[in-house]
Amino acid sequence: MTTPHPLLDQPEWQSLTAHCEALRNLDIRQAFIDDAERHQRLEFTAAGLTVDFSKQSVLPDTLQMLVALAQANALPAKIASLFAGADVNGTEQRPALHMALRDFKPEAIEVGGTDIKPLIADERKRLHNFIQNLHDHHWLGFRGDAITDVVNLGIGGSDLGPKLVADALRLDAPRRCRVHFAANVDGGELLRILGDLDPATTLFIVASKSFTTPETLLNATTAREWLLAAASGNRSAIARHFVAVSANKMRAVEFGIDERNIFSMWDWVGGRYSVWSSIGLPVMCAYGTDVFHRLLRGANLMDEHFRTTPLAQNVPVLMGLLGIWHGNLRGAQSWAMVPYDDRLFHLPAYLQQLEMESNGKRVRNDGSAVEYATAPVVWGGLGTNAQHAFFQLLHQGTQLIPLDFVVALNHPISPRAHHDALVANCFAQSEALLRGKRFAEAFADSSHGNDQTHAEHLARHRTMPGNRPHTLIVVDELKAETMGALLALYEHKTFVQGAIWDINPFDQWGVELGKKMAATILGEFDASGPTPAHDASTSAWIARYRQRRGD
Ligand code: F6P
Repeated sequence: MTTPHPLLDQPEWQSLTAHCEALRNLDIRQAFIDDAERHQRLEFTAAGLTVDFSKQSVLPDTLQMLVALAQANALPAKIASLFAGADVNGTEQRPALHMALRDFKPEAIEVGGTDIKPLIADERKRLHNFIQNLHDHHWLGFRGDAITDVVNLGIGGSDLGPKLVADALRLDAPRRCRVHFAANVDGGELLRILGDLDPATTLFIVASKSFTTPETLLNATTAREWLLAAASGNRSAIARHFVAVSANKMRAVEFGIDERNIFSMWDWVGGRYSVWSSIGLPVMCAYGTDVFHRLLRGANLMDEHFRTTPLAQNVPVLMGLLGIWHGNLRGAQSWAMVPYDDRLFHLPAYLQQLEMESNGKRVRNDGSAVEYATAPVVWGGLGTNAQHAFFQLLHQGTQLIPLDFVVALNHPISPRAHHDALVANCFAQSEALLRGKRFAEAFADSSHGNDQTHAEHLARHRTMPGNRPHTLIVVDELKAETMGALLALYEHKTFVQGAIWDINPFDQWGVELGKKMAATILGEFDASGPTPAHDASTSAWIARYRQRRGD
């Protein structure tokens, strides 16, 4: 007798598989006609966000069955363990307590017997003092000038979160400093940024949890040289122009950063979940700590919703489960994010790291191979630009690509005509994806001035199947609170999926091999003689590059 599969042989999974088969031809348009309350039934609210699942390829029963699957996979207990600080990151034997950074309740949260709340509060106080000094112009550069520009040097989670949030909140508070982000090891990026700056008024944040990330260290070294060149080599300038955010204080000190200018982060905060920690410093530099606290409070509201709401009304749970529905049961391999708001330009890239680095995994927590799809390919872009780029494929392509729209009903500065047009386009794309265009309609459109044969031919090209599943996420206004809630929503969605797939969303071993190999190849550029043990293609390209750089 074969051992039952831990997920695929569960009765709940089997029922869902049968249900999915029964809904294979579900016409969402018809579902709206059959159930006059479909929209109300499938719209949910959480922490200031309204999430409309009614244009998803589900019936209310589907959600119930997905919730049963979540129950069968002990999701409530797993959520409780996450918040209780259990070692949910098994391979690194750590908790994942980014929620503690935005939890203002007095209760202790312990890691290894130590209450981490006082550590967080102390660090917040240090950040607050630093920001006050910076904004009150008590913190001065080597020439005695106030700091006008802050450059964050970090990559991955030490870049994407603060970059997204700094841009997203640009209309929510007056800007006190300009902030810039250099992540790539491509010196072209750093030099582009430095080209516009004055070393005497520029502050660098070296943001690296590990303080070993080569891209960040090289950028920091180049930035330090740029500063010292302007400060006539006076090394005391470093303390006035460099601060660090790291869990590795020793390495930051070795780099030359004054210990008093190093802000902490901790093992129990993963890189892609770290914007709530001192990694959010660029956001504070730009707008102050009050706005940052509002971001934290918004995220905390979503945490409380996630922690306490029954699964059937729990928005991150439902979003995660819908991802399982599409990816595992309906065979979707990708998922797109389309924000209709220029302030969310960086959201798709942020979510790529969040979901793909977290759940792009192929073994379960116990090390056994998964036999089902895990994280989809996450991609996307801004509406309305995306309508003129990839929406053609969404409307008429052959793949199933579920998507999320995000839009704010109100905009603080966009002229009425613009915001009306933006929102109209968002709603229209949502409706068009649902409704499509039937052959008869396309034929009617094509008939003017064309003979029957050509009109039919054209109509085949103009027909759109519609029935394309998607979710609308609507906020009244995009503010620090709603932004915090939105990001926490996706963090928890990611956790839910990891819990059902029984994988670890908090490690990222897959990125290590390429990092090591880059270090090896880099060392070989300066060495002489043949390069050891590469495939023929890589060896040939190393040889050509060596020759080219030696020319
Ligand atoms: O890409 C791997 C990764 O470890 C990410 O998880 C992380 O956010 C990024 O590199 C940067 O790491 P660090 O903050 O340690 O420099």
